[in-house]
Amino acid sequence: MARQGVGYCLLFFCCVLEALSWKIVRNSTQPLPVVIWHGMGNSCCKGLTLHFIKLVKEAIPGSYVLSLEIGNTVEEDIKNGYFMNINDQVELVCNILSKDEKLQNGYNAMGFSQGGQFIRAVAQRCPSPAMINLITFGSPHQGVYGVPHCPGESSQFCDWIRKLLNFGAYRSSIQKHLVQAEYWHDPLNEELYRNKSIFLADINQERGINESYKENMMKLKKFVMIKFLKDSTVDPLDSEWFGFYKTGQAKKTCTLQESVLYQEDRLGLKAMDKLNKLEFLSVDGDHLQFSQEWFVANIVPYLK
Ligand SMILES: *[C@@H]1O[C@H](CO)[C@@H](O)[C@H](O)[C@H]1NC(C)=O
Ligand SMILES: *[C@@H]1O[C@H](CO)[C@@H](O)[C@H](O)[C@H]1NC(C)=O
Repeated sequence: MARQGVGYCLLFFCCVLEALSWKIVRNSTQPLPVVIWHGMGNSCCKGLTLHFIKLVKEAIPGSYVLSLEIGNTVEEDIKNGYFMNINDQVELVCNILSKDEKLQNGYNAMGFSQGGQFIRAVAQRCPSPAMINLITFGSPHQGVYGVPHCPGESSQFCDWIRKLLNFGAYRSSIQKHLVQAEYWHDPLNEELYRNKSIFLADINQERGINESYKENMMKLKKFVMIKFLKDSTVDPLDSEWFGFYKTGQAKKTCTLQESVLYQEDRLGLKAMDKLNKLEFLSVDGDHLQFSQEWFVANIVPYLK
């Protein structure tokens, strides 16, 4: 009887302690910092990226926003978006994040366009500091097999450009230096892609399974993917939701859920889906086109 009493007493004591510490943590918590990785042709600190930074700062007053600069100047940053090996970019970013004191209690990440796959690689390769929510805007997670603003799937011109990129994309000299080749995904030559893609095939576990990629991915609280329904830049569009062309052709697509990646759960995405950690959002607009109202209603909740 007496022992039971002590037990209850302890339980009560623990609950009070927990409630107290929860309160302290909550009170001392600033809004989580936001790390942004800009898209191709953009930089950390101008134009469209500035607009996105402003959206976050207005919606979450007092938030710390780190917009990644790859290089020492805005010009270098833009150039590196085309020519700096993505693996080196990711390493550079991991370094920046690990040294930023303001991020050490965790941060939310937003990646725009190709910046989305890149910052996902950060989540997979660099678990510290911890990324909490990952939000990607129009990011081709399964790569691209098409050229920006290519008019129409059936156009002869498109096929010609594709063949040309195909011819060179998996050559090692090009892989090492051309960013877009590093997420070029040729559904007619899946094996070549798997063998030669130095970035995307690696982070998408195409060659083997790196258990730490999977573990780290599953640490995310939410992985939010935004697809732009009238996107004229990313081909195929489904790549923005982690789908892709079915192997062996470039017309029919399959969803993430239908893919081997998901069914074998090579990256933890299936497990995350079952835990409601994946969010598939869409916007009825062209690449990266969304309103402030849409952002406040749909994205800000993930940043709080
Ligand atoms: C898995 O990924 C980690 C983080 O990038 C890396 O250090 C490690 O070498 C990789 N393991 C294998 C077997 O490739
Ligand atoms: C891919 O790599 C495997 C193993 O090294 C090799 O047997 C195969 O021929 C390669 N395929 C292509 C298309 O490069």
